[in-house]
Amino acid sequence: MNLFTERLALRQYVEGLKKEGETIGFVPTMGALHEGHLQLVRRAVSENDVCIVSVFVNPTQFNDKGDLERYPRNIKADAALLEQAGCAAAFAPSPEEMYSAEEMNRTFEFDFGGLDTVMEGKYRPGHFNGVVQVVSKLFSLVTPDRAYFGEKDFQQLAIIRRMVRLMGFGVEIVGCPIVREESGLALSSRNALLTPEQKKLAVNISAVLKESTQFALETSVRELHDAVIAAINRHDGLQVEYFSIVDGDTLQEINRWDESDYVVGCITVYCGKIRLIDNIRYK
Ligand code: PAJ
Repeated sequence: MNLFTERLALRQYVEGLKKEGETIGFVPTMGALHEGHLQLVRRAVSENDVCIVSVFVNPTQFNDKGDLERYPRNIKADAALLEQAGCAAAFAPSPEEMYSAEEMNRTFEFDFGGLDTVMEGKYRPGHFNGVVQVVSKLFSLVTPDRAYFGEKDFQQLAIIRRMVRLMGFGVEIVGCPIVREESGLALSSRNALLTPEQKKLAVNISAVLKESTQFALETSVRELHDAVIAAINRHDGLQVEYFSIVDGDTLQEINRWDESDYVVGCITVYCGKIRLIDNIRYK
């Protein structure tokens, strides 16, 4: 597997592929790879001639400096996993290689059409500006035919789809289902920061969401919303930041089940200091 740290080297590699008429599947990541990432990679490998993966902890999407500093990094282990999964090239630039000083401090201007004022966008101001900034930059460099994103970051996926429509990237966005541990806990790089006790506690997030699907449509949206939050907060050490029951396309909250045919419940929970997200489809 090729491991590039410089944009120019990656660019030359990509130009070589284009000359040969090879299709490129691209998976952007922030590393500390787990099975959730690897399923995206395997799918990209199987659906394209070549798979390229970026590993870059993007500073411009972190609104919390502590979170950026704590974020796990392990490029050696990541490179080994990517090679095993059949990835042809990894791109792991430094922040300085990726951004000029000006770009690093600039807010990326993008018309989110309201997608960024709710949920993650509301609680992590500027987060999606940084995501769109880095993903648009990576798309320009890699010029993929297809790019793979997990439904775990449900709002991110919706925003990337909008970005591609608005900015005219000729790339097909492929959304992939959430990969979970056997316990139900959604895989996340941040899980590595949990103590064994916290990890057990965190299982309640997916358990409560799953259970809620069994009675969801028989109760009101508001009652379901409140019941899910109460059932999670009941556990000492878990604190719900928000739970939003939204239309899966517009991401705006619904008040009645008949307002939409595509309804998703998106949640963020603090387990100690660690912020975990998950979501579940109701309709
Ligand atoms: P990161 O959190 O590393 O995730 C990279 C990709 O893996 C995202 O598309 C995410 O949704 C997907 N993913 C993570 N955990 C998953 C799981 N349990 N099941 C399925 N997919 C999962 O998301 C980012 O990085 C960044 O914001 C990025 C897009 C790379 C821009 O910096």
